[in-house]
Amino acid sequence: MTDSIEAQRPSNRVLPHELPAALRDAGLMNWIREPLDDAVDRRRRIIVPPAAAVMGTLASAYQGALLAEARHPDTVFMMGDNPALPTMPERPVLKDFFQLRLSKIGASHLLQSAKVAAKRGLDEKVIMACLLHDIAIAGLLSANHGYWGAQMVGPYVDEEVAWAIEKHEALRYFPDESVGYTYPEAYIDYFGPDYNPPEYIHREAAAARQHRWYMTSRLVTINDIYSFDRDAVVDFDEFEDVVGRNFRQPGEGLGFDGSPVAHMWRTMIWPNNFL
Ligand SMILES: [Fe+2]
Ligand SMILES: [Fe+2]
Repeated sequence: MTDSIEAQRPSNRVLPHELPAALRDAGLMNWIREPLDDAVDRRRRIIVPPAAAVMGTLASAYQGALLAEARHPDTVFMMGDNPALPTMPERPVLKDFFQLRLSKIGASHLLQSAKVAAKRGLDEKVIMACLLHDIAIAGLLSANHGYWGAQMVGPYVDEEVAWAIEKHEALRYFPDESVGYTYPEAYIDYFGPDYNPPEYIHREAAAARQHRWYMTSRLVTINDIYSFDRDAVVDFDEFEDVVGRNFRQPGEGLGFDGSPVAHMWRTMIWPNNFL
C-alpha cells in the first residue's frame, strides 16, 4: 500500500507548467484561454482544496506541487470568481445560493424534504427548517453539517428553526416510534449495520429530546427524505412565500451584511479562494 501511494506522488522533478495529469484530471487547475473580463485572463489558476477536504487522502500529497506551481509567472492561485462557476449577483439572496451554488443533488434533497413537510400541512417553521437542514452539506461542509448549517442561517431565521437544524444532526440516529420515526435504512448502507455514533451525539440527542422544541427538530428528521428521487424537480419558487415570511434576507446580500456568519456565505460564493 505504501509503495503504491509513493508511486502516485508527484515527482519533485515536475517541469514548469507540466502538472501531473492527475491534478488536471481532478480539476485542480483552470487554464483560462480567452480574456473575457477582469476575472478571466491568460493566466492559469490553481485551486488548492481546503485542508479538511484532503486530510488523510492521497490528494494531500499534491499540496507541495500545487504551491510550487503558483510561483510561475503566468500562474496564480484562484482568487475571486472561478469562471467555472456561475457568477453570483452582487447582493445574493437565498434563492441564488440554491440555484447557483448548492450541489444539484443537495438542493433537490432540501426542496423535496420541504415539499413533503408542506404537503403534510406542517408549521412554516418546520417547512423552513426542512428547506435548510442540509444546506451545509450542499454548499459548505458535510461533517457536523447540522451545526454548520444552524450557524449559517442563525441570524436570518427564528431561533427555533436554527435549533431544529442543529439538533437534527443527533436526533436522526435515534428512533422515536411514538411519532413514526425509525432508524433510516439508508444509514445501514452508509455507515454499516454496526455503526454507533460517538458519545457526544448520544448526549446531544438525549438533551434535545427533553427540550420544548424537540418536535420541531424531530419533524425535520421525519421529513428528511432519505431515499429521495434524484430526478424530481421542485421549484424553489414554491417556497417563495414561506421564505419571505421566515428568512430575513439582508439588504446588502448574504455574505456582505457584516453578520458573524457572513464569511460562511462568502465561502460559498468564492469556494476556491486560496486564502
Ligand atoms: Fe442532515
Ligand atoms: Fe437530509
